[in-house]
Order: sequence, then C-alpha cells, then structure tokens
Amino acid sequence: MSSFSTTVWLAITGLVFVVGYKIGKTSLSTLPQRKSRQKKKNEDNNNGSDSEIIPFNQPDDQQINSDNFGYFKLVLLIRNDLNMTKGKVAAQCSHATLACYKSLQASNSKMLKAWERSGQMKIALKINDETELLELQAIALSLGLCAEHITDAGHTQVIPGTTTVLGIGPGPVDIINQVTGHLKLY
Ligand SMILES: *[C@@H]1O[C@H](CO)[C@@H](O)[C@H](O)[C@H]1NC(C)=O
Ligand SMILES: *[C@@H]1O[C@H](CO)[C@@H](O)[C@H](O)[C@H]1NC(C)=O
Repeated sequence: MSSFSTTVWLAITGLVFVVGYKIGKTSLSTLPQRKSRQKKKNEDNNNGSDSEIIPFNQPDDQQINSDNFGYFKLVLLIRNDLNMTKGKVAAQCSHATLACYKSLQASNSKMLKAWERSGQMKIALKINDETELLELQAIALSLGLCAEHITDAGHTQVIPGTTTVLGIGPGPVDIINQVTGHLKLY
C-alpha cells in the first residue's frame, strides 16, 4: 500500500513539474528578451532609431521580475559651458541620480523597480547651456518622464544657483531617446 501511494505521489509530482515547466516557458517566451539584448548592442552610440523597442510606462509585475536588460535607462545631461572639474561633474550627477530616484519612487515605483532589475543603465550626455537644459526638461516632462535638474549651492567653482545637470528617467529607452537621442556622450 505504501509503495503504491509513493508511486502515485511521484507521478503527481512529475506531472506538476512538467506542467509548471511549460507554463514557465510560455510566460517567458511572451517577453521580448532576445530583442532587448540585440537592442543593447545597437544602443552603444545612443542611436535611438531602432523602433522595435516596446515602451513600458507602467511595467507590470512580470516585466519587473524579468530580465529586461537595456530596456530602461537614466540619462544625465551635463552642461558643457561651465568647465566643471571631473569631481564636480561626478558630484552633480550623483545629486541628479538621487533626485530622480526619489521623484520616481513617489510617482512610479514600478518603473523604478524595473530599472533597478534591468541593469540600472545610466548614460552621461553633453548639453551646451542652461537654455538647452530647460528646453529638454520641458520636452521630457511633456512626455511624462521624470526630469530633475540640479542647482548648485555654489560653494565651489560655479556661481550660486547655477543649474549644472539634468537627470531624465529612469524610463523606457525609446521614449528617452525621443528627447536625448541627438546628444553626444559626455
Ligand atoms: C543610427 O542608425 C541609423 C539607421 O540604423 C543610421 O543610418 C545612422 O547612421 C545611425 N547614427 C549613428 C550616429 O550611428
Ligand atoms: C569655459 O571654457 C571656455 C573655453 O576655454 C571659455 O570660453 C568659457 O568662458 C569658460 N566658461 C566658464 C563659465 O568659465
């Protein structure tokens, strides 16, 4: 009797395993993972012309918990006219990253999670001046992206109140590229 129930138990376990495996395979195959890796390769020069990317403005749990490497990014737009030192730029970018993180945590925590689990891509880009910074911030906000600029207290190197860096995102790569796809790497 006990060997019979062991056999039944083993059969049921096997069945559950096979069914579970099939469900797992099916749900994984509905996600555009391979495309995202291919996209990553084309992404190195910030070329936003690939239209295959699918936007995830409100990622669902499956997208958050899957490997969507390269689908989300944060861009840091650095004013090139201020002649800031490397250390100053690093500090300003850190401020901007933190500001965007806090802002998105309040407004779209699912997007933040998806970015955190997809490699936390950050790209530093060059802009000419404050006018360009404010223009791009307005465009980003109009597309529903998070866009936080940093104003320096001016203890070192720049005049107090100077805007230094604009952070856009984290958000879907294809939407951010609509705003910053034309900019050069810093
Ligand atoms: C971006 O991609 C398009 C089409 O794939 C190509 O024509 C263009 O030269 C690329 N731009 C850069 C900067 O590589
Ligand atoms: C930055 O350097 C450029 C070229 O050397 C110079 O023309 C400009 O005045 C400098 N800007 C500031 C804010 O120091």
